[in-house]
Amino acid sequence: MSQFANLGVVCRRAAVVGRGARPVTRMGSMVVGGRRGMASAPVDDGKLPLKGIRVLDMTRVLAGPYCTQILGDLGAEVIKVEHPIRGDDTRAWGPPYAPYTAESGREGPGESAYYLSVNRNKKSLALSFQHPSGVAALHKLLPTIDILVENYLPNTLAKYKLDYATLSAINPSLIYASITGYGQTGPYAPRAGYDVMVEAEMGLMHITGSRDGPPVKVGVAVTDLTTGLYTSNAIMAALIARGRTGRGQHIDSALSDCQVATLSNLASSSLVSGQRDSGRWGTAHPSIVPYRAFATKDGEFLVGGGNDRLFGVLCQGLGKAEWAGDERFRTNADRVANRGVLEGMIEEVTRERSTQEWLEAFEGSGLPYAAVNDVRDTLDHAHVRARDMVVKVEHGACGEVEMVNTPVKYSEAEPGIRTAPPLLGEHTDEVLGEMLGMSAEEIEAMRKEGARSPTRRTASVHTEKKASADLHFDRPEAYYDIYNSANHWDKEPTQYHSFGLDHSCFGSLKYAQAKERKDVLLPMFSRQAVTKLQSIVQNNIDRLCDALEANDAAGKPSDLFYGLRCFSLDTILQYAFNLSIDALGAPDFKAPAVEAMEASLPASIVYRNFPLLRQFVHSLPDWISILLSPATAGMVRLRAVLGRQVKQAIENRESLDDSPHETMYHHLLNNQANKLKIPDAARLYDEAQALVFAAAHPTANALTVGVFHILSNPDIKERLVRELREGWPDLKKTPTFEELERLPYLTSVITESLRMSPGVAAPLLRITPFGGAMIGGVKVPSRVTVGMTGSFAHSSSHLFPSASTFDPSRWLGDDAAQLERWLVPFSKGPRMCVGQNLAYCELFLGLAGLFRRFDLRIEEVGDGERGDRKGKGGLRWRECYLPLFLGKHLTVFCRKVED
Ligand code: HEM
Repeated sequence: MSQFANLGVVCRRAAVVGRGARPVTRMGSMVVGGRRGMASAPVDDGKLPLKGIRVLDMTRVLAGPYCTQILGDLGAEVIKVEHPIRGDDTRAWGPPYAPYTAESGREGPGESAYYLSVNRNKKSLALSFQHPSGVAALHKLLPTIDILVENYLPNTLAKYKLDYATLSAINPSLIYASITGYGQTGPYAPRAGYDVMVEAEMGLMHITGSRDGPPVKVGVAVTDLTTGLYTSNAIMAALIARGRTGRGQHIDSALSDCQVATLSNLASSSLVSGQRDSGRWGTAHPSIVPYRAFATKDGEFLVGGGNDRLFGVLCQGLGKAEWAGDERFRTNADRVANRGVLEGMIEEVTRERSTQEWLEAFEGSGLPYAAVNDVRDTLDHAHVRARDMVVKVEHGACGEVEMVNTPVKYSEAEPGIRTAPPLLGEHTDEVLGEMLGMSAEEIEAMRKEGARSPTRRTASVHTEKKASADLHFDRPEAYYDIYNSANHWDKEPTQYHSFGLDHSCFGSLKYAQAKERKDVLLPMFSRQAVTKLQSIVQNNIDRLCDALEANDAAGKPSDLFYGLRCFSLDTILQYAFNLSIDALGAPDFKAPAVEAMEASLPASIVYRNFPLLRQFVHSLPDWISILLSPATAGMVRLRAVLGRQVKQAIENRESLDDSPHETMYHHLLNNQANKLKIPDAARLYDEAQALVFAAAHPTANALTVGVFHILSNPDIKERLVRELREGWPDLKKTPTFEELERLPYLTSVITESLRMSPGVAAPLLRITPFGGAMIGGVKVPSRVTVGMTGSFAHSSSHLFPSASTFDPSRWLGDDAAQLERWLVPFSKGPRMCVGQNLAYCELFLGLAGLFRRFDLRIEEVGDGERGDRKGKGGLRWRECYLPLFLGKHLTVFCRKVED
């Protein structure tokens, strides 16, 4: 077991071997490097000036990573510490992304271009220093570290004992560089500062832009970049000083200071003259004329007539030699005085020809001139290529990627790109195990501390022979290693057979078998099909509301736990089978089929462990089953109804013509659409049952969770109701599914309900393919059973801050798109849910209907009665294998809202 458990959490090794990256082609004189799988770097280590220097890089985004990349290019060993789940923020700052190759087996858009631009020549250590073991590991590493670069707000790292005072006591020769927006001291020190704020605050924006236009920011985050450059320079100086003194020092590098420093001659002018700056000059120069870009027929052309001679050359080239003798333009002072006239005259001429024609006209003239190129033209520029400024690098997961090279050339040294930007946590094993010499036990202990695992029981591994050895993938990232579209892994037989649905799409173990079945089912649950049949869902919500109203009129609360189950069961039966069992019409929603569905869950758990018992029970005549287990009678009867329907559909296909809409039978018995041979009764019967179970249960769970949390949070309820009233002003005009989807708060409430719902809590077991697989950074051998529930990811506080709080607003924030990657209620990959569209339709129409039409009030129950763990309210499902509800049902008073 420990073999599997080794660092399942803390580290993540990439799925491709031999990811040492190096430039593979270079234009000009540089070396042509190796291909994938070759381990040695082409650059002679002796030619790396910072060889032997180790950098701990605790920076994110741009300024810090740019600084440490410069150190890495020069040969330093840079260890980048990243949040174990999210990594550097810029990993999510795409598109564009360099896509993963199919062979990498990785899912997702790829590696973001932003991240790739500033993280080469680094090792990624995925580690959380919010946990004591993470801090301890960094402290242990510290004596081997020469330089630490961080970009947290001042004093942030002190609480993790990672501040300069603490670390320099451990390692007095440490050079510790802090990059912040406004520095460690001064009135602005506590402020967070992105590049653009500092550009604005510190004068750059005011002098950037066209003469009459508004202030603009520079096209790249230039303040970040200059700060990165200054800091790397400061580090070099500190290294040289350390060579003399043996002591390190703290470098306090601020975007604001670096920005002010690069105001350079403009700052000096203002200081000397005491005047304000002269504003924005576009591409022009305040004191040299002509010195700017002029419009051509198809673009722009920049000239620098910096002195009288060059002005003469310009006039000659423009075919206006006489201008040089014009007394208005004789000297630079004259030209500055007549700037407007002269520039207008020049532009009149430059507009007559294309940029290329002007470039050719001035070639060899001695006049400084340039075209204004875009970034693509720059990268394709013959000179840029000749100077080796673009190189191809082999990236282990993305294949060949082009990158901008390190710019400065040396007569002796040969800095360069030795390794591609690392995948998140790619080197965690190497750093903790090899550099720190941590034992497997220590690493395992760290893993346990580093990631909370509230649903540990849901992530397990055991061998096919069921020599049960649990593997806890405490890193939710393992989720995507198992469930992704490239993995066509088999489902595990014991779990899936326990449902007794072996002939259905859901119960098919092999991908290929399931795909054939799924392809037939999918059109029936497509977005278009669901939208077309949404009246079925609406009709059932109306019926549910009628029943709630009747209960309220009788002065009693309604059991919404059962009510919502009746709603989802009636919906799937009508939608997929044109069958009505009128569960919603049952007194107190105690429909026998619904009661039976709950009662049969524990049996599935037993059957998983005793498959023969399942076979035996299923072979019994219905009447004996009912006799043995009266609670499940409703289920047995529903099965019998489905069985009769299947028989009729096969024997008398014309009977399907009477259906008002296409049912599952139409799709499955359709010769053209169905490439499979026409299914037999057993297959149809299993498919029918699988659909009922797969649809009714999880949809009702998500609805119940939503209603419960909305009612437990008055602010959330109020905001939702307000939005519904605005979006649905006239109660008689019920909005459609599509209209409701446009309501942002309702959408976020539903998303949060799906996150908090137990959904399908079963661990969705899969078997690793021959050759094994990398899961969560762990090499798992062939034919091992692995699994992880979505609720594990959903309850991770690393991924979802305050994960146990129902907080719809998390889906409205800036990082919602990032969070969505971890919203996996419907699973991912080839075996993901068929019924998402229908589920969403039920959730939107259901929650909107309930909260717009009723003022709902939860019936108070005693602490813990709803299965709450801490006595603060809350619903609790048993999170093991199947979501089995514990505690008292959700009961609600429903007062009808009058318009
Ligand atoms: C909120 C509601 C729902 C949730 C959370 C949910 C969740 C899931 C999950 C996690 C799976 C993957 C199971 C596995 O890997 O074994 C799945 C599969 C499936 N779901 Fe859903 N589901 C929901 C609603 C529905 C509905 C309304 C239908 C109705 C058509 C449906 C039909 C299916 C089917 C047929 C599969 C099997 C797919 C396969 O094995 O390839 N589900 N669902």
